Amino acid sequence: MDVDEKKMIDIAEDIRSLQLDSAEDSNGVVNSEDAKAEEPVEVDKMEEDSKEDVHNEAVQVEHKVKDKKVSAADDRAAAEEKELSKKRHLNVVFIGHVDAGKSTIGGQILFLSGQVDDRTIQKYEREAKEKSRESWYMAYIMDTNEEERTKGITVEVGRAHFETETTRFTILDAPGHKSYVPNMISGASQADVGVLVISARKGEFETGYERGGQTREHVQLAKTLGVSKLLVVVNKMDDPTVNWSKERYDEIESKMVPFLKSSGYNVKKDVQFLPISGLLGANLKTRMNKSICPWWDGPCFFEALDATEIPQRDPKGPFRMPIIDKFKEMGTVVMGKVESGSVREGDSLLVMPNKAQVKVLEVYCDEDKVRQAGPGENLRVKLSGIEEDGILSGFVLSSIVKPISAVTEFVAQLQILELLDNAIFTAGYKAVLHIHSVVEECEIVELLQQIDPKTKKPMKKKVLFVKNGAVVVCRIQVNNLICIEKFSDFPQLGRFTLRTEGKTVAVGKVMELPSISS
Ligand code: GTP
Ligand code: MG
Repeated sequence: MDVDEKKMIDIAEDIRSLQLDSAEDSNGVVNSEDAKAEEPVEVDKMEEDSKEDVHNEAVQVEHKVKDKKVSAADDRAAAEEKELSKKRHLNVVFIGHVDAGKSTIGGQILFLSGQVDDRTIQKYEREAKEKSRESWYMAYIMDTNEEERTKGITVEVGRAHFETETTRFTILDAPGHKSYVPNMISGASQADVGVLVISARKGEFETGYERGGQTREHVQLAKTLGVSKLLVVVNKMDDPTVNWSKERYDEIESKMVPFLKSSGYNVKKDVQFLPISGLLGANLKTRMNKSICPWWDGPCFFEALDATEIPQRDPKGPFRMPIIDKFKEMGTVVMGKVESGSVREGDSLLVMPNKAQVKVLEVYCDEDKVRQAGPGENLRVKLSGIEEDGILSGFVLSSIVKPISAVTEFVAQLQILELLDNAIFTAGYKAVLHIHSVVEECEIVELLQQIDPKTKKPMKKKVLFVKNGAVVVCRIQVNNLICIEKFSDFPQLGRFTLRTEGKTVAVGKVMELPSISS
């Protein structure tokens, strides 16, 4: 084992000591039966998807999503009669290093589920060829804007929908390029299940897995953002440098397992590996053809997704929906994922932290207008009582009786991953805080205690600075009021990352909020 690898495993041990997943362990899982009761009640179709045009200038990072599904003809009456969906719903984010094949797999899924016809594929083939990006034609289904198609990389999170026998899936295709990690964070914060795409092509797995590669960063972020289950797809198995080699697959699995463990995933319970080819569509919708890959006996991708069980959320808890984006459409519409509680047409709620009382006029789940929706759903909610410019991304739509706390200071336990140029971490350190949909400059104002990663107990001596790999309890300040919760109360709203100059330097959880919060 080289020094780097040893260091990695040490840091990994430390991350585990953060026990970011402890809150989930006490939860049960949702099976299709339980989920039924909370399925949204569909009554109508949304006519127009105007999200593409939404720009949020309120924060330095744009949280944009592209909706790939072309709305069906807006036959309202027919939609009203449509049978209520009995299927459970899961949000799945595709993550992994640039060029691993995320958009290609997303495009292939839409093709295999009959949402893209052969003629469109041929058109994309021609367009991709003109741009000298022949092999990107499947990715063009997900990568819709000119910049993405010319460069062959995803910039904005792509969004699409498909269904299996038991489940409705929303897929979120995150960008792998390191410049767009903030967009990836916004995609991952909306998901429960992650598909970590790894390229098996010679040299590509290695680059992605290296220090500074996005395979590592995405896994650590996903865990911190509450992606509780991972399907690790070893992609490009058809590539001539791989040729469905079992040795290559095993090599990748054996290197990934210790790293996933160190990032807080329980590999036995929460992680599943599969070999696939996104480009050829092999082992996606149907099981592997034995003549191509005789050694794989496991499930195909759709089967594995169908079997995924996710932690249960409380449909009766106080309502919390962090706002990712907002726009004007005959009123004020906010978008986000419900993290706790349920919402109904007619409900009175608060937009926090500005305590604006609002009324829910309409609720949309994907394209469908629904009367109510529960936790885990990605919604668009039309509100009265507030103007669009009174809302910023990071605000939280919240219950009136038990509103979310709004603070400018909190106590957190941090795991330092890797500081820039091995800097030291001390009071006065500044970073960008990412917590649910909040992106805010912050400053560490005081280090309170260092935690011994071995014993998990606070160390006695006073702590003035720490280095890479340390676990430390500290006080963090922000300039503007932010809405957060204690990790022990609402893990999704209490786990965060700190980034500096485009790199993730620490992950953490909120331990205490000031007793008088506004
Ligand atoms: P970013 O969005 O930029 O992070 O990349 P991505 O992960 O979405 O990768 P994308 O789907 O754009 O694919 C990148 C390249 O890998 C393209 O040339 C694809 O044709 C190729 N590719 C993707 N999947 C496969 C596969 O299963 N086999 C082979 N041989 N090539 C693949
Ligand atoms: Mg992509």
